[in-house]
Order: sequence, then structure tokens, then C-alpha cells
Amino acid sequence: MKCGPGRPCTGGRGRAEEGAPKSYRRCKPCGGKAVIHMPQHRLALCRACYPPWFEKQTQRTIERFHMFGKTDRILVAVSGGKDSLGLWHALLQLGYVADGLYIHLRIQGSDGLAYSQRSLEFARAYADRSGRELIVVDLQETMGFGIPEIQRAVHRPACSPCGTTKRHYMNKVAVERGYDGLATGHNLDDEAATLFSNTLRWDMDYLARQTPVLPAAEGFARKVKPFCFFSEKETALYAVLEGVPYIREECPFALGATSLEHKDVINRLEHESPGTKRAFLANFLSAKDRLPAPAPPAMKPCRECGSPSPVEVCAFCRLRAATLARGSGLALTQVGARSVEGQGAVVCQVKT
Ligand code: AMP
Ligand code: FES
Ligand code: ZN
Repeated sequence: MKCGPGRPCTGGRGRAEEGAPKSYRRCKPCGGKAVIHMPQHRLALCRACYPPWFEKQTQRTIERFHMFGKTDRILVAVSGGKDSLGLWHALLQLGYVADGLYIHLRIQGSDGLAYSQRSLEFARAYADRSGRELIVVDLQETMGFGIPEIQRAVHRPACSPCGTTKRHYMNKVAVERGYDGLATGHNLDDEAATLFSNTLRWDMDYLARQTPVLPAAEGFARKVKPFCFFSEKETALYAVLEGVPYIREECPFALGATSLEHKDVINRLEHESPGTKRAFLANFLSAKDRLPAPAPPAMKPCRECGSPSPVEVCAFCRLRAATLARGSGLALTQVGARSVEGQGAVVCQVKT
């Protein structure tokens, strides 16, 4: 029997060494020792063959969804984690023009030390290595407070207001600096968990907007997710094999998040039946293509910040106002307080 993914080696180029574990697999293209087996693709690859395969798949996703071209300027939103730094690296390897954007959220780690600061160091290290620009938006300098203060003010889990804040600045910087696209490192686990959650609630608005590419619109940058078909394990292996260091600790606010429970449920299904996760997302996207696209909500400039919003004051400005209103309990810096109150609109204080 010829050796290959899912079959034990019995001889030839892919012959396994004596005493090798039963699960020992050979790389499909070269017969070397496999470091990953992807049953959903019926493919095992070695450390040398995996990165080129991964980059080719990234290119296929970019082309399939017409995300961007080689002459476009892309802004990659980087969190310091494996997905976004791996994405930045893959895009540069593929010959795209890409800069990075890091939003300093001012979150402390579970050890009481600065989690956001540590994440920034990984993003900076990759920017130095690649010679590309890293734009940093520091919430403390721009708004006068970070995510912990917003979370205390709104009495909600941090992830939702944090997402609103990040989306606001990602879009703002991409639009103001004239980038052709904003790329995020959302992976298959993220997308499948989001789809699962939206489906459980039959949230048609969110379902309509869940797509690997959101076209640009007045005041909105084009948003793309080139890693949406890679699992977390696949993006982590790519970063490791390509020598891209990334922060391994999770955001302390993520502990107990519902999205993690959803990821867990989906991974159990995937374990029983490989390919489930990918099919869940891919089949949803093809089904959505066959349905008429819902009319986008009418937008007008937010009264406070000018960003497009379906209501008079956008979600971000309402959050900011709620945090400011909580007032005296907050240690607002002079600079931060002035930058919010003095200008009527939040102006990005961007450090490069
Ligand atoms: P998350 O919302 O934490 O699951 O992250 C999803 C994607 O958002 C990441 O892959 C990044 O592309 C982007 N992102 C998350 N946090 C930040 C951040 N602090 N600064 C810039 N981009 C971020
Ligand atoms: Fe936003 Fe953790 S990164 S709450
Ligand atoms: Zn606003």
C-alpha cells in the first residue's frame, strides 16, 4: 500500500522508521516527516512544505473573494497574536504592500502586568523585522482611558465594547490614511463561532454582514479576512515555522467568554467529523450568495465623531460618553480629557 495521509507507511520513499508511532505520517508532496495532518484536506505536510502550501491557500482565498490586488495598500490590524502577525507576514511573503495597525487597549494581564504593552512589543518586533510601518493608536492618549475603564462604566463583559472601540479606530485609520483595504486575522474558529452564535439567535442583520469581504462604502474602509478558512492550529503552526514570535497568553477578559464555549462545541464536532467547521462556514457563504442581499441600513455621519452611523450618535461615541459620564472615578489624563472634550470629535493621535 502506498503511504500517504491517513495510511500507515509500509515502504518506498515514505517508509516510516522502525518503532515509529502508528500515527506517524509522511508529507504528501515530499515524503518527509509530517508536522501536521489535516484530515479535512486529506493532507499531511512537513515543516518545509507547509508554509508554501499555507501561503498558496491564502492567495486562493484572496483571489476567490476578490479581496485586493498587488498594487493595493493594505492595512493589517495586528493584535500581537498568531493570526494577525501571521497574516501580515503571509501578505508580505506573497508580495503585497501591507502596513500594520495596533490599537493599544491598555489591558492588564492576569499577572497584573501590562498585557497590551506586551502584545505591542510583539507587533513592534515584527514591524522592525519586516521594515514596514506600524501605526499605533493608544486609547489612553486618544480618549483618556482604556478598555478596563470602559468596561467598568458600561457594566458589561469587556469584549463587546472593546470590539466597538477597535472597529471604530480600525476603520478611522484605514479611511483617513487612504488604505485600499483593512485586513484582520479572523480565522476559521472565530468565523465558525460567530456564525454559530448568530444562527442560534437567528440574528439576520449580523448574518447578512458575515462575509470574508465587506466592500468599501461612504466612510467605511473595505474589510477583508484572508485567513477565514484556516483553523487556529494551522495559523499557529505557520507563525511558528516562519519564526514569527507572537503573544501566547489570552486576553484576561476573554476568560469564560461565550465565544470560547461555542468554539469548544464546534471543535468537538470537528473532532468527530473532520471538515465540519469548514463546511459550516463555506456552505453558509455559498447559500448566502444565492439569496438577495438585504438593503444596507441608511447611514449618516455621527453627530459626535463623523463616522457613518445608522443612528444620530454612533455606538462608539455612546460608549465614550458613558465612560466619561461615570466621571470622577476615572483617572482621566489631562491630555486625554482635552483631546476628547476640546475637539468635539475624536481625532486619532497616531504614533508611528
Ligand atoms: P479578536 O477580536 O481579538 O478575536 O481579534 C480579531 C482580529 O482583530 C485580530 O486577528 C486582529 O486582526 C484584530 N485585532 C484584535 N485586537 C487588535 C488590536 N489591539 N489592535 C489591532 N488589531 C486588533
Ligand atoms: Fe478586547 Fe480582550 S481584546 S476585551
Ligand atoms: Zn461617533
